Amino acid sequence: MHNTQATAVAHANIALIKYWGKRDDKLNLPATGSLSLTLDGLTTTTSVSFDSDLNHDCIKLNNQHPGESAADRISAFLNLVYQQVKSTNQQRPYAQVNSHNNFPTAAGLASSASGFAALALATGKALQASLEPGQLSMLARRGSGSAARSIFGGIVEMAHGQRKDGLDSIATQLHQPDYWNLKVLIAVTDAGSKKISSTDGMRQTMQTSPYYPAWIAGAQADIETARDAIAAKDFETLANVTEFSTLKMHASALAAQPGVIYWNAASLAAMHSIRDLRAAGLPVCFTMDAGPQVKAVCTAGATSQVAECLQQVPGVVKVITCGLGRGVRLQPQ
Ligand code: PMV
Repeated sequence: MHNTQATAVAHANIALIKYWGKRDDKLNLPATGSLSLTLDGLTTTTSVSFDSDLNHDCIKLNNQHPGESAADRISAFLNLVYQQVKSTNQQRPYAQVNSHNNFPTAAGLASSASGFAALALATGKALQASLEPGQLSMLARRGSGSAARSIFGGIVEMAHGQRKDGLDSIATQLHQPDYWNLKVLIAVTDAGSKKISSTDGMRQTMQTSPYYPAWIAGAQADIETARDAIAAKDFETLANVTEFSTLKMHASALAAQPGVIYWNAASLAAMHSIRDLRAAGLPVCFTMDAGPQVKAVCTAGATSQVAECLQQVPGVVKVITCGLGRGVRLQPQ
């Protein structure tokens, strides 16, 4: 090998039914299944080039050197894909990695999901391997749990799996992007980096929250409710279970010691505004992740009213509107 290169494009995804907690830290196995929408508007483009003339990995995120821990996480992921693809523990050649997000990084907008999905495909291809979607999902999961879902487009379910080796802990597509014309509007309330990473927030919740067992106990039933509601295109049931899942996830985190609080004042105001819209008859609901942004999910016909409403919420700095997007793919050279 002298120099081999590939570029992949992936989208972020937003979980309607959340993953929160790990059943294995090392393999990054989720303690719960999850169900998500892949979003066309939040895109990561990553190129990987292995070059035997390099004497270290050269990693750039949005044209800048990332911090040491982000760079180490990416190098460790390159090692993992190399070992998997080449079935060897030998030292791999170093690589140049350039990754661009068209949205704020590490602010609870699932940049790790699109990031590791794109990195898995680009790395595999640069190593001249053709990996099946299930294998890509398993690899992406090792980078970030939610990344396993960004391999697929449309509406996606992630299995928590039972096996210790994680071979059954992969995502699958439930529906194509054009199955249901849903929109996700992201109300950005703070574009800075998140204060508590999802991994740290999960660990604190698992170790100290008295509500964690209740969170785990209800997760599978929520997935089934959401899956059935989607099959019937029953927005009201989907809205109720989506809010139920996110509020339970945050309740378990809030009850940790010390409490993990991802919301700011604008997040709470946006959730109330979305509830008001739904009470007035609009098909819309909210969900939130490990950051202060609020995501409104609605049917396409409600988009402009939801956008106008969110723009007026004090503290909302920007609203990004997304439809359902495709799974990870290679960018032609
Ligand atoms: O993929 P991670 O490790 O950043 O975890 C994501 C966790 C949530 O975004 C809060 C929920 C989810 O299912 O995406």
